[in-house]
Amino acid sequence: MDRLLIRGGKKLNGTVEISGSKNAALPILVATLLTDEPCILHRVPNLRDVRTTLKILEYLGKKTTYQNNTVTVEANGKLKNDLPYELVKQMRASFWVAGPLLARFHEAQIPLPGGCAIGVRPVDIHLKGFEKMGASCQTESGNVLIRAEKLNSAKIVLRFPSVGATQNLLMCACLVPGETVLENVAKEPEIDDVIAFLNKMGANIHADDKGRLIVHGVNALHGAEHTVVADRIESGSYMLAAAATRGEVTVKNCVPEHNAILLEDLQEAGFALDIGETFVHVHSYEGDIKPLRIRTAPYPGFATDLQAPWMTLMTLCCGTAEIDEDIFENRFMHAPELVRMGADIATEKSLARITGVKTLSAAHVQASDLRGGFALVMAGLCANGETEIERVYHIDRGYENLEEKLTRLGADIRRYNPDRDDF
Ligand code: EPZ
Repeated sequence: MDRLLIRGGKKLNGTVEISGSKNAALPILVATLLTDEPCILHRVPNLRDVRTTLKILEYLGKKTTYQNNTVTVEANGKLKNDLPYELVKQMRASFWVAGPLLARFHEAQIPLPGGCAIGVRPVDIHLKGFEKMGASCQTESGNVLIRAEKLNSAKIVLRFPSVGATQNLLMCACLVPGETVLENVAKEPEIDDVIAFLNKMGANIHADDKGRLIVHGVNALHGAEHTVVADRIESGSYMLAAAATRGEVTVKNCVPEHNAILLEDLQEAGFALDIGETFVHVHSYEGDIKPLRIRTAPYPGFATDLQAPWMTLMTLCCGTAEIDEDIFENRFMHAPELVRMGADIATEKSLARITGVKTLSAAHVQASDLRGGFALVMAGLCANGETEIERVYHIDRGYENLEEKLTRLGADIRRYNPDRDDF
């Protein structure tokens, strides 16, 4: 399996271009199941999870092509409405095929996505919403069979603004006659991008003045072309890497307002930023990094996906910083690895307390999840010496061309596979 070798202690300098959003591209690719007509998607990042989603679409009966970040999805015979565990276990988001398959075929048989490193990650909110629309959900031996004689429009209040449940229920409601109202929905920018694509396909979705999503069902959806929104987690990750290495970096082709809270917190921590329409310039800063207390929350709150990279920045603060991880129950796996690199972090349940140290030291560490893996990359960039990171496949799920982008910023980073390369 691939590993990363990073010789740290160098400031990042220069410009990095942000890719299309993984967390918008995945649901948008799944939404192509709602039509038999061709769909063309641009700025689809070349990531492991995207390739897994294309495999899922092919398994279900679509024909896909993928060239220079453009994906075409076309019909290729009758769609299946079941998924094998092999595919679902690779990526939790595969559960989102339920909505489109239920809407079109009134039946879907899908393995329950197991938990993952960051938490149990149930799908009760998804299933309750389908039941409100008239479906029955039977779970047995790890699969869920979702069936409906007839689907009816409904008023659905999500008990928690789940991103995936919002998207799954939206995709189903598009083809359900009548007016479906979704309340207490997720408001992440990726949801807006999915809604934009669905409306381009002929859906009728809008938000009312109370922030509820109103869906007027239509008989069928047609093909559409769409360019995926910039990845706000990737852009935030590179801003944090620039800040942690005291570098001077322009993060281009991003949507600064999607990182509003992070920009505020970075400035409060002492960093000067120039914020443009489509870029953020992080100025080099040699002063003390102020310790902050942050709490992760649904958008527009502090993104849980940026908690781990933020923690790495706080390992170098001048005092004691605190992080409340209020979204996932087990999202501090990067903390013990950072401690092995010299950080001073104590975690208890959802609270992490980070007491700043002067420098981090290189070590042999392993990634346990996607964003925790990036946090270790950041630590390696800051640490003196050569850090080796194992299980890079986690990081490959969400950061397109990671080494190329970091090398272009002046990092000394290379990928190797001990079973194949003889470094
Ligand atoms: C999406 O996951 C993202 N993944 C995650 O990004 C992100 O961390 C998360 O939203 C929160 O922003 C994709 O978009 C592919 P949720 P999702 O449903 O939809 C609980 C990354 O690093 N919950 O909003 O699975 C759940 O357990 C990934 O790119 C229920 O209890 O997240 C969690 O504690 C990691 N029941 C919380 O809600 C449900 O039915 C938020 O989950 C659904 C969720």
